[in-house]
Amino acid sequence: MTTTVPRPPGRPTVRDRLLRLAETVTTPLLPEDYLDLVAPLRSGAALRGRIVDVRPETRDAATVTIRPGRGWRGHTPGQYVRLGVDVDGVRQWRAYSLTSPPGRRDGLISITVKAIPDGRVSNHLVRRARPGTVVQLDQAQGDFVQPATAPARILFLTAGSGITPVMGMLRAGAHGAADVVLVHSAPTPADVIFAEELRGLADRGAIRLVERHTDTEGVLGVAELGDLVPDLLDRQTWACGPVGLLDAVEAHWAAHGAADRLHTERFRPTVVTPGAGGTVTFARSGVAVSADGGTALLDAGESAGVLMPSGCRMGICFGCVVPLREGAVRDLRNGNLTTAAPGDGVLIQTCVSAAAGTCDIDL
Ligand SMILES: Cc1cc2nc3c(=O)[nH]c(=O)nc-3n(C[C@H](O)[C@H](O)[C@H](O)COP(=O)(O)OP(=O)(O)OC[C@H]3O[C@@H](n4cnc5c(N)ncnc54)[C@H](O)[C@@H]3O)c2cc1C
Ligand code: FES
Repeated sequence: MTTTVPRPPGRPTVRDRLLRLAETVTTPLLPEDYLDLVAPLRSGAALRGRIVDVRPETRDAATVTIRPGRGWRGHTPGQYVRLGVDVDGVRQWRAYSLTSPPGRRDGLISITVKAIPDGRVSNHLVRRARPGTVVQLDQAQGDFVQPATAPARILFLTAGSGITPVMGMLRAGAHGAADVVLVHSAPTPADVIFAEELRGLADRGAIRLVERHTDTEGVLGVAELGDLVPDLLDRQTWACGPVGLLDAVEAHWAAHGAADRLHTERFRPTVVTPGAGGTVTFARSGVAVSADGGTALLDAGESAGVLMPSGCRMGICFGCVVPLREGAVRDLRNGNLTTAAPGDGVLIQTCVSAAAGTCDIDL
């Protein structure tokens, strides 16, 4: 038997000392940077992945397949991963649902991205990312997942890129023994991401697929949904799509006492009516901007060239948390006000907070 004696905290190892010594002779680049050039996915490095394939799915969506580094701990179907990608020299973080099943034999994972108009990261990934590119990764997270015991009857309600977490569940076998209905909306048949695979599942009787082509049939209303799936409130439902769709289903399920059977995943936060803005100072960056009450501090800072930490950009991952040194901010999701007196250093999420007067951010 081997006994390992724990190292006292803070005491550097020989490797640490060598790295520190080497740092002094390789400034401004650090040894870690040189190692990244040759072995970015090595164990012990910050978690990264290498893009191995970018495959178009529709005219504006593509699946990006990634080999994650050794530290990747796997995922549960339906979860998302935060991805850091350099666009025009600036590291941008976004969240993407995993579309690959967990534990693939080749160790690869995939995300499927839909390019949105003027979207910095989505257009970069869909149209410009190439195999070989190294991206930053975070461990998978999120609770838009199925319970350990699969429900007998399931409704998946998706629209556009909202199919991605559900595809991850279907590829992991969510249809198994369950009675599964998938109602999916896209502008035209050609815009349906994973169309062939979904239609194949339906042809084999594994799921009942209802495709709604909104360019010709209009947007699906909740009342109409009831005609298509008469027992919808009795089903465990996973819904992912635009804010309007999710707001409508949440209201409907709540009004019928079925909220506990509805699980939703939002790609963007619901924003309430904004208040007044103010001057935002990013103290350590030496930048001050005037921001209105509807603009997230994250967007205000990035527009002014401040390097802002971020992740999901919708208030769920806490990748954007920074101290508010002084001033007031309003939560864009519910209008709640947070204030800080000098020295308080109250932590705020910049992606869902807007200026509510003057504020001083410790960044
Ligand atoms: C948990 C989670 C999972 C996600 N999974 C996926 C996924 O699997 N596939 C996928 O394609 N996207 C997914 N997203 C959305 C993704 O993280 C980005 O928001 C999206 O790619 C847009 O980023 P961008 O840099 O291109 O746009 P930005 O440059 O950040 O924004 C450009 C403009 O588009 C608006 N905008 C931002 N996001 C959206 C949006 N989702 N829809 C419409 N307008 C928007 C902004 O307000 C801004 O005006 C997910 C988001 C979350 C929070
Ligand atoms: S970026 Fe995820 S909580 Fe703000």
